[in-house]
Order: sequence, then C-alpha cells, then structure tokens
Amino acid sequence: MDTFAFIIHPLDPKADVARKYPRLARLLSVPLIHFLSRYWPPLVLSRVTGVRSLATGRQVEGWLLACPFTAQRMIELPPRVVYRKVIQTGRLAERLGAQILGLGAFTSVAGDGGVTVARALDIPVTTGDSYTVTLAVRALLEAGRQMGIAAEQAVTAVVGASGAVGSASACLLAPRVGRMILLGRRLEPLERVRQEVMGLARGAVDISTEIGDIRQAALVASATSAGRAVIHPPHLKPGAVVCDIARPRDVSAQVLEQRDDVLVIDGGLAEVPGEVEFGFDYGLPPRLAFGCMAETIALALEGRFEDYTVGKNIEIDRVREIEEIAERHGFRLAGLRSFEHPLTPEQIHRVRQKAAQAATPGPV
Ligand SMILES: NC(=O)c1ccc[n+]([C@@H]2O[C@H](COP(=O)([O-])OP(=O)(O)OC[C@H]3O[C@@H](n4cnc5c(N)ncnc54)[C@H](OP(=O)(O)O)[C@@H]3O)[C@@H](O)[C@H]2O)c1
Repeated sequence: MDTFAFIIHPLDPKADVARKYPRLARLLSVPLIHFLSRYWPPLVLSRVTGVRSLATGRQVEGWLLACPFTAQRMIELPPRVVYRKVIQTGRLAERLGAQILGLGAFTSVAGDGGVTVARALDIPVTTGDSYTVTLAVRALLEAGRQMGIAAEQAVTAVVGASGAVGSASACLLAPRVGRMILLGRRLEPLERVRQEVMGLARGAVDISTEIGDIRQAALVASATSAGRAVIHPPHLKPGAVVCDIARPRDVSAQVLEQRDDVLVIDGGLAEVPGEVEFGFDYGLPPRLAFGCMAETIALALEGRFEDYTVGKNIEIDRVREIEEIAERHGFRLAGLRSFEHPLTPEQIHRVRQKAAQAATPGPV
C-alpha cells in the first residue's frame, strides 16, 4: 500500500503538548515548553489508516509525525536551525517508508517554504499550500454567499498578501470579487503581488500596511505568519466575513466575544474520503483535515510522488490541479466552522441580523 507522512508541531504550547503528554503539560510553564521544544526529538504521533479513494477504491496509509518546535520558536530561531529539525523529522518519515512528506503549519512557513528540506531529503515533499488556498477561497465565498454578500461587488482584503498562501489566495479571488486591498508589513513585496493580481482582477487593487484598512472590506482572507492575533474587534466592519487561514490564528478570540455582527470562519479544512482514523487528536473532529494535510494524502492516492507545492511562489495551475485531484478522490470542503465549532444556518442568520442592526443608525 502507498504511504505518506505529515509533520505537525505545537501551535498552542500548553494545549498541544497536552495532546501527547497530558501530565507533562500540566507541570511545564509556557516559557519552559518553548525552551525545551528546541531540544525535544522528532517523534511518531500515530498511524493514519482507512483513507480510501472514492474514484478508484485505492487505500493509502500514513503517519503523523511531530516536529517539536513551537511556532514562536520557529519565528525566533534562524531558518537553518528550523530546517535541521524538519529534515530530522523527514528522515524519520523515510525510515518508516513514507513515499511523500507533507509539511504542516510553520514547518513550511519558516525560511524558503520547503525548498531546503526537499533538497535534503530522498522522499518528495509538499507544503500542501495549493489545496489550502483553494479550500480557503471556496469557504470564504460560500460564507459570504450565506451572509448575503454579492462577491462581485464586495471590497475584499487579503492580509499577509505578499506571502505564499496570501498571494495565491489574492490571485484566485481577483476575478471573482470587487475592489481588492492587499495588506502586509512591507510595501515593496505587496507592490509585486499587486502587479500580478491587477492582471486578473475585476476591480481596482490597492495595497496597504495599515491593518485598520480592512474595515473597508466585506470579505477578508487572512494568512499571515505573525504567530499571534493581528485582527482585533475594531478592525472589522459590521457584516464582514473573515476566513482565518493562519495557524496560529490571525483573528483575536476577542472578535468572537465582542463582535456578534461579524462572521469568522476557520479556513482551509477538508473532509477526507474513507473511514479515516488519524489516531491522534490534533484539534479537528473525525475525518477533517487541514488543507495541507489533505493535499499530501490526495497526492498519495493519486500516486504523484514528486515535490508538489514547494517554495513561496504557488502556481495557480497547481492550485487548480490539486483541486481536481482531491475532488475526484472524494475530498470535500468541510462544513463552515468558527473557532473550532461548526456553524449552523441559524447562527449565520443571527450574525446577519446583528450586522443589519449595527448598520442601521439608531434614533436621534
Ligand atoms: N490551514 C492550513 O491548512 C494552512 C496551510 C498552510 C499554511 N497555513 C498558515 O498560513 C499562514 C501563512 O503561511 P505562508 O506560508 O503563506 O507564510 P509566508 O509566506 O511567510 O507569508 C506570511 C505573510 O504574512 C505577513 N506578515 C507576517 N507578520 C505579519 C504581521 N504581524 N502583520 C501583517 N502581516 C504579517 C508577511 O508579510 P512580510 O513579508 O511583509 O513580513 C507575509 O506576507 C501561516 O499561519 C500558516 O501556518 C495554514
């Protein structure tokens, strides 16, 4: 049977370490977890079984591996230190017999987006970003539709737009939405993305380094590598829909507490075909996977054992191709979720009502 391996790592130090070592997580402070994460060796978390293609009936199996670096440590440390441990984890995948390796969360964000890791390993590598992008864009447009937003006229912001996921998301959104605002920390790389997006866009394309500018947008896709919340309650206009692709999240939990008139959805989630057992609780309900994980599994089902999405320039042709491959094998866009909970039509209806109230001027 063909096989894959996928690397994950702690995003929320306490909660994620507790998934593997519940007692240890109670004893260790967060700073100590960050410190120790540098020295903890890679490990096998689980065997993944039961994935079956709807198209061919073919099954694949795999392993979830941990690269025990917290996101914060990966941001602070030089990329070569991060590469070393990701490559060490990749070697573990090789010894297990995996035929393709997926890089989850910050293991693909750090440095050059998997290029150095792919060069060092004997098995092919993918960041999984191509499928993540298509899932996130579809989820954002679907959530917008349910909120009654006409996408073609909607001012649409992409936060982290000069990054790998952000720039590809902007390109995919451009022909389907109204005016776009591309946000990041530096104008120069944003300008480069703007040139590319302008050739695809229906409306004007602006760039900004001021996060407050997303208050103009009805639709927001967010994919920064900040490793902490960058979108806070005052930043969003009533009725806005935000697809938060970033892990750790870009949208502050305070938005959920304080803004019942905006809809925040978790981006980039797919249902995996077959009776899949992941064998490890990584924070999603049964059968759901992050887009990057789903891309790795879809490539294994397709028998495409080659470096697929690698580097920071995601090709739109690849995004379209992996969407077709995944769809054919039975992967589906997951139902809408917000801060890890499923969203019901009633909840969305309530957000619409609150947004309408917030937009209506009160009595003078
Ligand atoms: N859900 C999934 O399945 C999935 C899959 C893949 C990736 N992801 C997540 O997607 C996110 C982006 O990944 P990536 O590979 O595209 O990263 P990337 O290529 O490093 O791009 C990150 C972008 O974020 C911007 N940025 C960083 N810090 C910021 C801040 N404080 N405020 C505003 N913008 C900031 C960067 O701008 P500058 O260049 O100007 O700093 C850059 O445009 C990560 O959180 C990753 O974990 C999720």
